[in-house]
Amino acid sequence: MEVIVAKNYEDMSKKACAHIVSRIKEKPDLVLGLATGSTPIGLYQNLIAEYKNNNISFRRVVTFNLDEYVGLDGNDPNSYRYFMDHQLFNHIDIDKNNTFIPDGTAENIEEECKNYEALIKKFGGIDLQILGIGRNGHIGFNEPGSPFNSRTQYIRLAESTRQANSRFFPSLDDVPTHAITMGIGTILEAKEILLLISGKGKQEAVRRLFTEEPNEDFPASAIKTHPKVFVFVDEDALASES
Ligand code: F6R
Repeated sequence: MEVIVAKNYEDMSKKACAHIVSRIKEKPDLVLGLATGSTPIGLYQNLIAEYKNNNISFRRVVTFNLDEYVGLDGNDPNSYRYFMDHQLFNHIDIDKNNTFIPDGTAENIEEECKNYEALIKKFGGIDLQILGIGRNGHIGFNEPGSPFNSRTQYIRLAESTRQANSRFFPSLDDVPTHAITMGIGTILEAKEILLLISGKGKQEAVRRLFTEEPNEDFPASAIKTHPKVFVFVDEDALASES
């Protein structure tokens, strides 16, 4: 696990962007795993700027998102499809047919999970997976207790996660109770993992990530078993000495 300390959110976003740009230059048909949430927004803005400056093209890039709420379709402003379209895809030259996000409105969710796994395999697996981290250590929507060999699945969201995400919804009651998420086993099969961590609210999660052995009570610790991980963390997120 290589740790890259950034001065602040903007610096973290720039450094992570430079890393991804270099990977797309090495492999223009990169299979990129994406995350939503607040953390990667700055990264996506930097990637858009790189595209607009003609430094990079996403024409052949394929993307797979980590997760999606169950019950929200892509026109719902709180769906992760809507988030990705507006935060990234609509502003770059990616072929939208090559942007994959689990379908939270699928009639058969179990089937949807299996198909998602098969699709990732069809594209040769994920080359580089971007992750954020929840305060409780969740990655994707894999909450504490998720087995490290879990695959894409239908899960019930932890109440703490629903509360954290309720900031985007009119009220807590409007936050979906279930989601589809890549499993931890699925995430660990990515050839490379980039974890982005920013802000004081993540200090406890950072402390646990750096000090704990891999354990299922703290899902993000699973990445310590992966051979190629880069953690981009800003100074606010580094746990204080006191
Ligand atoms: C989002 C995702 C989540 C977030 C995590 C942190 O696709 O998979 O695991 O990365 O909840 O969210 P933020 O960045 O909003 O703190």
